[in-house]
Amino acid sequence: MKKIVTVITSLTLLAALGGCKPSASGWKSYSGDKTIEQRVDSVLNLMTLEEKIGQMAQFSCNWDVTGPIMADDFEPYLRKGLVGSIFNAYTVDGVRKLQEMALAESRLKIPVLFGYDVIHGFRTIFPMPLAEASSWDLELMRKSAAIAAEEASAEGIHWTFAPMVDIARDARWGRVMEGAGEDPYLGSLIAKARVEGFQGGKDWQSLQDLHTVLACCKHFAAYGAAESGRDYNNAELSLNTLMNYYMPPYKAAHEAGVATYMASFNEIGGVPSTASKFLFTDLLRNDWGFKGFVVTDYTGINELVPHGVAADEKEAGELAANAGIDMDMTGAVFSKYLKQSVEEGKVSEETINNAVRRILEMKFILGLFDDPYRYLDKEREKNTIMKPEFLQAARETAARSIVLLKNEKSFFPITKDKSLTVALIGPMVKDKVNQNGEWAGKGNREQSVSLYEGLTEKYAGTNVKFVYAQGCDLTTDNRDGFAEALATARRADVVLAVMGEDFNWSGEAASRSDIRLPGAQQELLKELKKTGKPVGVVLMNGRPLDLSWEDANLDAIMEAWYLGTMSGHGLADVIAGDYNPSGRLTMSFPRNVGQLPIYYNHKNTGRPLPADNPKMDYKSSYLDVANTPLYPFGYGLSYTTFQISNLQMDKSSMGKGDKVTVTAEVKNTGTVDGETVVQLYIRDLVASVTRPVKELKGFTKVALKAGESKKVSFTVTEAELSFYDIDLKYTAEPGNFELWVAADAADETNQASLVYTAK
Ligand code: NOJ
Repeated sequence: MKKIVTVITSLTLLAALGGCKPSASGWKSYSGDKTIEQRVDSVLNLMTLEEKIGQMAQFSCNWDVTGPIMADDFEPYLRKGLVGSIFNAYTVDGVRKLQEMALAESRLKIPVLFGYDVIHGFRTIFPMPLAEASSWDLELMRKSAAIAAEEASAEGIHWTFAPMVDIARDARWGRVMEGAGEDPYLGSLIAKARVEGFQGGKDWQSLQDLHTVLACCKHFAAYGAAESGRDYNNAELSLNTLMNYYMPPYKAAHEAGVATYMASFNEIGGVPSTASKFLFTDLLRNDWGFKGFVVTDYTGINELVPHGVAADEKEAGELAANAGIDMDMTGAVFSKYLKQSVEEGKVSEETINNAVRRILEMKFILGLFDDPYRYLDKEREKNTIMKPEFLQAARETAARSIVLLKNEKSFFPITKDKSLTVALIGPMVKDKVNQNGEWAGKGNREQSVSLYEGLTEKYAGTNVKFVYAQGCDLTTDNRDGFAEALATARRADVVLAVMGEDFNWSGEAASRSDIRLPGAQQELLKELKKTGKPVGVVLMNGRPLDLSWEDANLDAIMEAWYLGTMSGHGLADVIAGDYNPSGRLTMSFPRNVGQLPIYYNHKNTGRPLPADNPKMDYKSSYLDVANTPLYPFGYGLSYTTFQISNLQMDKSSMGKGDKVTVTAEVKNTGTVDGETVVQLYIRDLVASVTRPVKELKGFTKVALKAGESKKVSFTVTEAELSFYDIDLKYTAEPGNFELWVAADAADETNQASLVYTAK
């Protein structure tokens, strides 16, 4: 007994040392010369093997279920101090209850780390990540992550499982909604912005701020390459593809200081990530120098058995621990078997010590040893949730995430000075639930603003009138509402259909093999078209859809994705022309599902199809559809028009260490003010390995008044020309390059050549 009291006292003393700060040699205590490492070790020295393994266990408290429910009740583990982290708990009261339970009876009273899937907002829901990426506005994304962190941390959450930075080229995969799209360059910048937003800065000192949370870069690695777009499927890809396309955003997250990584469910080259020493030890820790900790994805260790690389869960745990996994999410494999594995010499105690060090270090950095309840302030919780400025930011982000795909006969904007009746038709007009999308945190879906509400408020007192009929639902073939919808359309001057996908039809475990508008929605559009009225559609969906019919037949298409709490207001701002849409696609939209995966930065092949002859025999092409997407990467319209011209370079040849400045002029050639995204693409013509036909290497979002011109400028250095070569060495090879300053990935109007001498 005396010994236990001494231990607790020593921990209390340790805690009393206060917070930590960085110095040239690392993190130090404010009050003394002990580094965090020393403080971690002083705790580690007190721990039994069982207690150490307990730190490597994470359980879900099942208040929210985000995967298969595990049989294990975690409470007995928690009371004994054998739980490192809990996820899916929230609110000051809820988190306090569990933290108290952990500290009351456990021997060492090590505080628990609380995690949650804070993906696009916690209470104030922002546009889904793929939508937000369409804004190409990095500051906007940093800010929405910071707001999400502020709300989540006010409810006791220390750690978010975001950002998801998986490159995605296949719209069948439901999780495309959670990432930034298909491009490694843009994806890397967005990964950085989101990590900085959640964590508050690049170095971990910012994590001591109570308004920040640990970020988790996921899913390492190449989860987005799931074969046939089927979730959890094998990722079949070469090392060249892995390193050049999929790896950059994960690496960018590390360079931005991300505190944790999550292992992906998929395998690469016969090795499931959770068992991959190559990924977690050789690459992440040894090559990149990552110092934080790694968590599995939900039951990822248990799944090594059905993957077929472990005979049973005990062996699965050994593979994971030896690969470099530090924490087991919900699987209870470490809790049940790891002690025995250490005793049998299958996993070294040093491996366990290292994992526990990394976990404890984060708890020290967050200040939890000093005060396990430091985030739990009811007053702050009350004053933080859904603050007016958060709602305003969500509204602006919603407006900026919208992509205008087609706009004939000036269907949009419907300005407030018009005098007309608009028929609002479709299952999304009054929807409040689906428009928040999957992974909508603890947002109250019913509190979100529907488009109907947004439009009613926007046009109050004007001569723009609305009539409404739902017409059909999102998923079934029921046509009972068609007659009313058509009668309503006939009473109006124009028809604005508002349609999309059920929110459960994207996100995790939500792959589709047919990516057209589901249910009877397209049929209803066909009937509406027959009324002869102008028909436009606003779409709310979680993935690029096959919009070939809509593109060929409707007057206007506005891609609104899932915009979250302020959806209706953000959309109304754009529909009325109070905000001129500036979103640009970050994933190609296919002409049909058979084109998938489709992405702009593909390889040329030995038999490329000439652009001017889409039907040649014995060329890499289809018999029944073009190679090109319906809408390319980088594409989006505005209520004005822009022209890019006068591409110039200050030199056409550069050596090692040089830089070339590329400039062009961009002009607003229309009659209203607007913003456009000017994009720089580069092609490496000949290299030791085949290179993409085009790669984004710069962009700038420019605001231009009607008639105004501006000069945009990009810098090309060795970095923009570098890639993983035939020996997987990151380098720039000498040779000829082409470059374009363009409106999107398909725009080749402004082209130039560059020679890199490498000398
Ligand atoms: C499984 C998902 O793949 C992952 O992204 C998520 O963070 C965990 N479940 C926890 O909910």
